[in-house]
Amino acid sequence: MIHPMPRHSPSAKRPPEPTDFAEVFASLPLLHATPRSWAELAAARLPEFLADHAVCEQQVAVYALSLTGLYPDDVELVERAAALAAEEVQHFRRVVTILRRRGWPLWGRRKNPWAQGLRALIVNGREPWTKVDRLLFGAMIEARSCERFTRLLEVIDDPEVARLLADLGPAERRHWEMFYRLAGRETGPEELAARFQRWREAEADLARGLGTSPTVHG
Ligand SMILES: [Fe+2]
Ligand SMILES: [Fe+2]
Repeated sequence: MIHPMPRHSPSAKRPPEPTDFAEVFASLPLLHATPRSWAELAAARLPEFLADHAVCEQQVAVYALSLTGLYPDDVELVERAAALAAEEVQHFRRVVTILRRRGWPLWGRRKNPWAQGLRALIVNGREPWTKVDRLLFGAMIEARSCERFTRLLEVIDDPEVARLLADLGPAERRHWEMFYRLAGRETGPEELAARFQRWREAEADLARGLGTSPTVHG
């Protein structure tokens, strides 16, 4: 599967969003598909899924903002990461509203072994690769989140949560592309693709051992 660097200008007309799982999966840089059994588990344990989901949205907003502090001279990154953080805060608020209305608890920070495993791949203190890795980490987080939301949407029997997932899946798909595009400014397309391939393979190795917990990346 070849994933050329996405080239969407803000004014470019995007093709219609795919909604079918196979189609969405094919559009993502993932090498391992989440089994449907994960979605059945998450659908059966929605309070846990949504509590974890809220934290994921909050954490990605925090991560995007942290990038603006790490690279303050990169105006494009600062603008795009700040806009992304604002969007993720909106996602967070939507999930919190659903939890509150249903009387389901919101979680604080919790262990996310998948994200921790990925984060360990970021090489430190060796620019431009540290920056590239930080952006590719964001790309993988967004891509897997999009895939999981789409998987869950296949089996979910709850109209309000289905609406949420249908809205958020395409947003997270845009986000992985944005992170990848920002990384692409730092290096040549072939070096970037080679580095991303390592991320894709490592992510798939982590994901293959998961799919047994009702959390977004569990
Ligand atoms: Fe989000
Ligand atoms: Fe996102």
